[in-house]
Amino acid sequence: MNKIIVLIGAPGAGKGTQARLLEERRGIPQISTGDMFREMKTLDTPLAKEVQHIMASGMLVSDDVTFRIVQERTAREKGSYVLDGYPRTAVQASQLEALAKEQGKEIRAIEIDVPRDELFKRLTGRRSCPVCGELYNIYSRPPKNDGVCDLHPDAKLDHRADDNEESVKTRLDTYEANTAPLLKYYEGTGRLQKVDGTREIEQIYKEIEGSAA
Ligand code: AP5
Repeated sequence: MNKIIVLIGAPGAGKGTQARLLEERRGIPQISTGDMFREMKTLDTPLAKEVQHIMASGMLVSDDVTFRIVQERTAREKGSYVLDGYPRTAVQASQLEALAKEQGKEIRAIEIDVPRDELFKRLTGRRSCPVCGELYNIYSRPPKNDGVCDLHPDAKLDHRADDNEESVKTRLDTYEANTAPLLKYYEGTGRLQKVDGTREIEQIYKEIEGSAA
């Protein structure tokens, strides 16, 4: 049966990093609600403006708006796919159950576990390429040349608007309050695998790839 692989982890745990590897190496599409919301930045509509404002503060976009974009985006995937950053609330988890049933897919949740103090460093040090989305970190995974992508030397790396100290604190608190409780739900239904996210990216990937097979 095709799978919906749900990556759960606090901001900075490495969900995007691992989802991108699954897409590149296994061809399993990465569907990131955060990326889809960031893409709305270019739209000049009240909803797009509201979404950018919520994201910058570190709070969550409403369950209904989020579900609509997930439903629309996943509709074109006939095989397995990875959800990076969805679900994040009990309501979203229940909406996803219904969607999985409708699409005839099984949900497999993977928790990437990283302690809170490590996450601050990862988020404030994160940079990304505006052309290909490649992720760097000025502390743990710097680009070969300062401030530019290894693959696109003309592209100056981006620093996300919500990767500042105040928003990071709100995002981590929001994760603890709304998303961490979902881990018990997936564990209780026998669908959770926990991985230690403090190791090397490749070691974590090997473990996650095993579950995605
Ligand atoms: P989103 O974009 O999903 O952000 P997030 O959950 O805060 O997660 P991040 O992207 O910050 O971290 P990540 O776990 O992907 O880590 P990464 O791989 O980049 O959401 C942004 C906002 O959108 C939310 O705050 C909310 O407003 C809204 N939103 C999104 N989804 C929503 C939903 N479902 N409902 C409502 N609102 C929603 O890695 C981080 C850094 O660490 C990188 O620099 C990387 O190189 C480095 N790194 C990764 N792995 C390792 C490792 N093993 N060792 C050392 N460094 C590592």
